[in-house]
Amino acid sequence: MEVIITENYESMSKLAASLIRQQLLSRPNSVLGLATGSTPVGTYKELVRMHREEGLDFSQVVTFNLDEYLGLPPSHPQSYRYFMDENLFKHINVPPGNIHVPYGHAESVVEFCAWYEEQIKAAGGIDIQILGIGGDGHIAFNEPGSSLGSRTRLKTLTEETIKDNARFFKDEAEVPRFAITMGVGTIMEAKRIILIANGKAKAAIIAEAIEGPITAQVSASVLQMHREVVVILDAAAGSKLKRADYYRWVYEQKKRLVPQMIGRM
Ligand code: F6R
Repeated sequence: MEVIITENYESMSKLAASLIRQQLLSRPNSVLGLATGSTPVGTYKELVRMHREEGLDFSQVVTFNLDEYLGLPPSHPQSYRYFMDENLFKHINVPPGNIHVPYGHAESVVEFCAWYEEQIKAAGGIDIQILGIGGDGHIAFNEPGSSLGSRTRLKTLTEETIKDNARFFKDEAEVPRFAITMGVGTIMEAKRIILIANGKAKAAIIAEAIEGPITAQVSASVLQMHREVVVILDAAAGSKLKRADYYRWVYEQKKRLVPQMIGRM
């Protein structure tokens, strides 16, 4: 696991976007795994800028989003599909038919989840997966206790997640209680993973996930078992890491001697 502590939200976002650009330049038909939430907004902004100003091409890209609230149609302003359209898809040249976001209104959730897993497989698997992290350590909506081998399925959100996400809704009662989410096992099959986190509120859970034991109680901790993960933080989110000095030293050496290896272990 490579841990990079950057100065601030902007540098975190720019570095994450530059790793995605590298991936697209080396494989224009890459399969991208995407997250929603406030953390990746800056990364998406930077990708949109790269598309507009540098011609970064998404015409062969295929995307799979991590999750969606159950019961929210794509037109609902708080649905993750809506979020993705507004923050990324509308502004780049990814073909609409290549976009996959779990469908919150699926008639049969069980059948939908199996279909979603098949689609990921049929696309050749996810080349690079972007993740945020919840205050309770969730990745996608894999709340504490999620099986580390879990697949795409229905999850009940914790009260903590409902409270955290209430900021996007009129009030807490409006936050859906369920979501369709890729499983931990699904995420672990991505070839590369970029986890991004910013702000003081994420510092304690980041320290637990990166330097604590691997446990289903902190879903993100299983990333320690993945062979190609880069965790990109701002200074606040990295402030409780015991080995922060070491991570900074590694990053400095890489920038100076092997910049092409940043984010590549
Ligand atoms: C969203 C997702 C969630 C978020 C996490 C952090 O698709 O999968 O796991 O990444 O809840 O959310 P923010 O970025 O809003 O702090």
